Amino acid sequence: AIDVKVEALLAKMTLDEKIGQLNQYTSDRDATGPISKGSNKLEEIKQGKLGSMLNVRGAKDTRFIQDAAMQSRLKIPMLFGLDVIHGYRVTFPIPLAEAASWDLEAIELGSRIAGREAAAAGVHWTFAPMVDIARDPRWGRVMEGAGEDPYLGSLIAAARVKGFQGNGLGNLDAIMACAKHFAAYGAAVAGRDYNTVDMSDRMLWEVYLPPFKAALDAGAATFMNSFNELNGIPATANSYLQRDILKGKWGFKGFVVSDWGSIREMIAHGYSKDNAEAARQALTAGSDMDMEGRAYISSLAKLVADKKVPLALVDDAVKRVLRKKFELGLFDDPYRFSNAEREEKELNSPKNRKAARDVAAKSIVLLKNTNQLLPLSKNVGAIAVIGPLAKSNTDMKGFWSVQWDNDQLVSLYDGLVNKLGGESKLIYSKGCGIKDTTRSGFAEAVAAAKKADVTIVAVGEAFDMSGEAKSRADIHLPGIQEDLVKALVATGKPVVVLVMAGRPLIFNWTADNASSILYTWWLGSEAGNAMADVLFGDYNPAGKLPITFPRSEGQIPIYYASKSTGRPSTSDKDIVYRSAYIDSPNSPRFAFGFGLSYTTFSYTDLKLSKTQVKNNETFTASFTLTNTGKYAGEEVAQLYLQDRFASVTRPVKELKAFEKVMLKAGESKTVTFTIDKEKLSFYNAQMKWDTEPGEFKLMIGTASDKILLESKFELL
Ligand code: IFM
Repeated sequence: AIDVKVEALLAKMTLDEKIGQLNQYTSDRDATGPISKGSNKLEEIKQGKLGSMLNVRGAKDTRFIQDAAMQSRLKIPMLFGLDVIHGYRVTFPIPLAEAASWDLEAIELGSRIAGREAAAAGVHWTFAPMVDIARDPRWGRVMEGAGEDPYLGSLIAAARVKGFQGNGLGNLDAIMACAKHFAAYGAAVAGRDYNTVDMSDRMLWEVYLPPFKAALDAGAATFMNSFNELNGIPATANSYLQRDILKGKWGFKGFVVSDWGSIREMIAHGYSKDNAEAARQALTAGSDMDMEGRAYISSLAKLVADKKVPLALVDDAVKRVLRKKFELGLFDDPYRFSNAEREEKELNSPKNRKAARDVAAKSIVLLKNTNQLLPLSKNVGAIAVIGPLAKSNTDMKGFWSVQWDNDQLVSLYDGLVNKLGGESKLIYSKGCGIKDTTRSGFAEAVAAAKKADVTIVAVGEAFDMSGEAKSRADIHLPGIQEDLVKALVATGKPVVVLVMAGRPLIFNWTADNASSILYTWWLGSEAGNAMADVLFGDYNPAGKLPITFPRSEGQIPIYYASKSTGRPSTSDKDIVYRSAYIDSPNSPRFAFGFGLSYTTFSYTDLKLSKTQVKNNETFTASFTLTNTGKYAGEEVAQLYLQDRFASVTRPVKELKAFEKVMLKAGESKTVTFTIDKEKLSFYNAQMKWDTEPGEFKLMIGTASDKILLESKFELL
């Protein structure tokens, strides 16, 4: 029925009105409202020259703009898009942090709440999830994705899409998701944002495309293309990606929005000689909507008149956009999302904050806990709280937060005060700033540590050191923060280090010498409360790294699913004429999948239901997981497979399943993984997704480098 309505509306539209639907501007938000004086955007809306805006939010502002759209000839409602990446008013942990929870329900709930809050504030569409696989922590946008692994990344992509879109478009609490950036943006050479991507088709299909397919299968309403070129062709004008794969082979029915100005930027790429050529190339390749490029609005009409762009292509793009507006119910009531009362009630509700605190605690990864220093007892004596991030609340929001309220971001210090019921046990000293180079604050910090029974030191990055255009060539702890840690450890007092950052950082000295380390990323509104929950054992950490932590920048790209090579190095000592470095181990500092708990787990009794498996046959691998420590806790048990010999070499291990299991102290459970044909398939030498007979290695463990059970089976 919607298609009939779309066709009927299209039949009434002039070419200019059609092009208007493909045109998206940002709001010129200023103190006086969403559209500044002097801008002619409101006029353009009234003339039907604008189909969508980004960065307009709030019931009042969206209503104001929608009013203008209702004055256009055909009264086609506007679509409001926004980067609701990890929360709207309640800020959730950055996506990379949430990925460390390996908790798909919690991740879905985070997106659900973000979507619900945004929808209550008049927003129809989020530019999320970012599903780009990233294996280079120098790339600032690593914070926005789910890490390095296509399997984990695909499950998280689907969870986020389901969260944002809830029970489907048309429901008042559902917003459109946008899988971005199509495609391979995360593979920018040397981790420099917007940089060139050159990769094999095999790598593209095996590693970078799966999360997009998963997002599509979960119903993602829209896709965004990407700033990068892929093998010489900008993603924005890449027909292979958008026409052949996305709209062709995968049958995507939604629309593709360009990235900000990415159509126009094809001139700088050296691909399009002017805006008109860029518009022709982008539309022809399947980019439906032009975000802030002004290429479609300025050139498409002439391109159609000159028969350089077939009208049918414009019509197809317009229909895709209109269909979504119908599905959202905007033709029934263009103001249905702009409801000030609902906005007031939904935003920052205690329920939303509770969910943010829960997932924040789940996102924390315990990297080290020598002598079981953690959890701290609430009866502990004095606690020195040190470090440039100890009292920071604004950095906790992380990059890509949109509508946060500074007063409602809980710092570590505030979280400790909340947990301990006051400040009496806390001795605070900043020690140094995030990027400082002078040690003038060290003496006071050391004195505080000496007075205290335990020191908690918060180091890391400021919120604007990871994110878009925030690539770093040096990813060590910034400034002299590691020297501050050294000075505190030198006191001989127990030191707990909390690293707050938007990417994997390098902190080798700290990793070797501090007693306990928690990687807390940027955890959002409830950061401090969640950290306090973990520090005092009200939540037993269970996070596992979704991305490899290198020892040095020289190891990058480093990821667990590597190939063996003809001269594999069997250990960090086995380096002579091996595929190894002479000045660094091959092994990472912390491996993908790694994360400790306050308790311990044993893995025993591996049983395979079959060791000779027919093609198409499903079988199971089960084992007993036991909590052998003294605390209740969760463990993420991980299953990896390797196809030993194949027509195309396979990685040494690939994650194929995992389960997060809660166990009381002393409790055991049987964990069963089901292995089907899909898990044994790969793109063979002919790039066909299929299995090949032969031997497989099956590995189960607590991290990609801590395999505790191993077996093999044969595919017949
Ligand atoms: O959604 C973003 C995109 O990820 C990067 N460029 C700007 C867009 C809109 O803000």
